[in-house]
Amino acid sequence: MVDYTVTVYTGDIANAGTFNNVYIKLVGTDGESKQTWLTSYIWNLSFIRGAVSSCTVSCPVSIGKLVLIEIEQHPLIFFTDSWFPAKMEVKSPEGDTYNFPIYRWITDNEVHRFREGTALRVFEDDHPLGKYSRDQELEEREEDYRWDVYLEGIPHSMRSEGPFDLPYEVQFSYIKSTEFLSTAATGLSDLQLTGLSESTENWPDMDTIHRVSCSKLTDISEYVQKHWKEDTFFGYQFLNGLNPMLIQRCSVLPINFPVSDDMVSFGCHRSLADEIKKGNIFLCDYKRLDGLKTNTINGKKQYLMAPLVLLHKTPDDEMVPIAIQLKQTPADDNPIFFPTDSEYDWLTVKIFVRSADFNEHQLNVHLLRTHLLAEVFAVSLLRNMPMVHPLYKLLVPHTRYTLQINNLARSSLISKTGVFTKFAASGGKGVKTLLKRSLSSVTYRSLCIPDDIADRGLGDVPNFYYRDDGLKLWDIIHRFVQGVLSFYYKNDTEVQKDSELQKWISDIFEHGFLSQAGTGIPEIFTTVAELVKFVTMVIFTCSGQHSAVNAGQFDYAGWMPNNPLTLQCPPPTTKGTTSEASMMKTLPAVNATVQGMSTVWLLSRQSTDSVFLGQYPVDHFSEKMPCKLMEDFQGELQVLSEAIADRNNNLKVPYTYLDPKVVENSVAL
Ligand code: FE2
Repeated sequence: MVDYTVTVYTGDIANAGTFNNVYIKLVGTDGESKQTWLTSYIWNLSFIRGAVSSCTVSCPVSIGKLVLIEIEQHPLIFFTDSWFPAKMEVKSPEGDTYNFPIYRWITDNEVHRFREGTALRVFEDDHPLGKYSRDQELEEREEDYRWDVYLEGIPHSMRSEGPFDLPYEVQFSYIKSTEFLSTAATGLSDLQLTGLSESTENWPDMDTIHRVSCSKLTDISEYVQKHWKEDTFFGYQFLNGLNPMLIQRCSVLPINFPVSDDMVSFGCHRSLADEIKKGNIFLCDYKRLDGLKTNTINGKKQYLMAPLVLLHKTPDDEMVPIAIQLKQTPADDNPIFFPTDSEYDWLTVKIFVRSADFNEHQLNVHLLRTHLLAEVFAVSLLRNMPMVHPLYKLLVPHTRYTLQINNLARSSLISKTGVFTKFAASGGKGVKTLLKRSLSSVTYRSLCIPDDIADRGLGDVPNFYYRDDGLKLWDIIHRFVQGVLSFYYKNDTEVQKDSELQKWISDIFEHGFLSQAGTGIPEIFTTVAELVKFVTMVIFTCSGQHSAVNAGQFDYAGWMPNNPLTLQCPPPTTKGTTSEASMMKTLPAVNATVQGMSTVWLLSRQSTDSVFLGQYPVDHFSEKMPCKLMEDFQGELQVLSEAIADRNNNLKVPYTYLDPKVVENSVAL
C-alpha cells in the first residue's frame, strides 16, 4: 500500500465550517483511489471555520500524477450543512505536492470535482475525466451565470432576482454585507442629516448648507468647501477631480461654440488663435446630455444643461475656465459667459457645469465605464472559463463583489424607487438615454489609458496626477499580465486555438459592446500581444480606473454646491439677471441634497475586508512562475505607492485615488 496525505483547508469566513462526513477520491493518470472517509469522529472539528486538518488516503499502488479530486459530503445526522473548503493539498508517496484550489460552497450531497491547480488550456487537457469535469463545470456555470437585458442598448448584466439569488461564491461576505447595510441604514444619521431627508424646502443660504455639511469631513471635502468657487479649483477638477475623462486639448473650436478673439483676453497681445496653436486651450463638451429628459423632484421640473467649457492653461500651469456656453446650440438666449461677467452670473453657470458633470460622471464615467463593463468581464469569465484555465486564475480576483454591488446599484439607485431616479436631474428616463448614448461613445482606445491620454492630447499637461499615476499603474499591470500570459501562451497560435479564450472575448464583444465593431473592441484574439493588452485593460478598469472615479465621491460631491445632483431653475438666458438669491433657489432642495450626500458617503466607504491591488489571499496559481510574478507585481506597486505619497507631501490637494494602497482589486463599491 502507498499513502497520500491530504491536507484540507476550510475557509476562514463566516459559516464556512461543517460537521458533515466528508469523502474524497483521488484521480491520477494511472488510476484512482477508493472513496475515502475523511472524518472518523462524531462531532469532530476537522472542518470547522479556518481549520487545517490532515488525513491519509491509501492505495494499493501509486496512481500517477494527480489530475483531480472528487469530494462528497453527507449529513452527520439529518441535514447537510454548507461547507466552504478553501483548498486541499495532497502529498504523494513520490514526495510531490499537488494543490487543489476549491473556494466553493458545497451545499449538497453530489460529487464535486476539483482540478489540480496547474493551469491547463482546453487544447492540452487530455485526461478523459479531467476533460469531462471541465465540460461539466462550464455547463453548471452557464446555468448559474446567465445574461440578462436590464435596458436595451446598454451592456448586458447578470440575471438574478436579487442579491441573495446570486451564487454564494459571488455574494458579499458577512463582513461586507454587515458593514454595507449598516452604513446604508445609518448614512443619514452618521452625517446628522436625519431630520432633513423629508424636507422639500430650498436652502436659505450657504451658511446653512455649511452647518449641516460639517459633521463628517475629509481633508479634501474641507478643502472643497473652502475653494469650490475659485476658477483655478474649477479647472483643477477636470484633471484630478472625480471625472478626469472629459477634458481634451482643443485644436479647433467646435462650430457650435463661437468664442471669438475679442471675447477673451490673455494679455501681452496674445489671441485665442495663438493660444490654441500653442496647445494652451482645452475643451470640455457635455454634448451627451443635450436634450435629455429631466426629472421632476418634489413636483418641480429640474434642469440639466449640456455645456461647453473652454479652459486655458496659464503661464503658471493652472487650468482656468475662460468661456462657458450652457447649451449646445448658439442662440441669443444661450449667451457665452466669461469670468468677467458678474460674480453670480459666472458662479451660476459654473454650478450648471458642475451639475452636468455630476450626471455625466455618475452614469457614463462611473456606472457604465467601470461597473457595467466590469460585470460583463466577470459574467463572461464565469460562463466561459473553468477554474483550471490560467485566465480564470488571473482574473477572478478582479470580479470580487462586482455582481452584487451592481445588483444593488440597479435596485437601490436607478430602479423606479432608487435614490438616483428620485433625486438626480437625469434620474428616470434620462438614465436610459444617457446610458445608451454613453455606450455608443465608448471605444476600446478610450478604455486604455495610454491611448486615451494620447487621443485627448493630454500627454504634456502639467499637474495631471490622474494621468501620471494612471500611466504608471497601467505599465505595472501590463508587465505583470505580460509575464503571466506569455508564460502560458508561447506563441500566437496557442492564443488562436484556445476556444475558451475566444468565447470569452466574443461574449464580451456581444454582451458588453452589443457587437458594435466601431468600438474597436476585439471580436477575437489573434496574438499574445492583443490578449495581454485587453487583459491589462480589464484589470485596470476594475481596479485603478474604478478607484479614480469612485473613491473621491464624498471628497468632491459631499459639499453639494460643488457637484449638485440636480438644479431646480433654468439657467440664465441673459446676462445680469442672477443674484445670491437666484443661486440659492437653483440649488437642489434639502431632501435631494441630503440623500445625495448620504449616497456618496456610502459609496466612498471601503469595507474592512477589502482586497487591494496585487493582494491575492486566494491561491489559484500553483506554478512558481506566476507566484514569483505576483511578488514582483507587489514590489512594483509598493514603489509606486511610496512615490505617490512623496509627491502628495508637496501638494495642496493630494491625489490619492490611484495609490495602489487604496485601489481595490475589483469593482466592489
Ligand atoms: Fe463604484
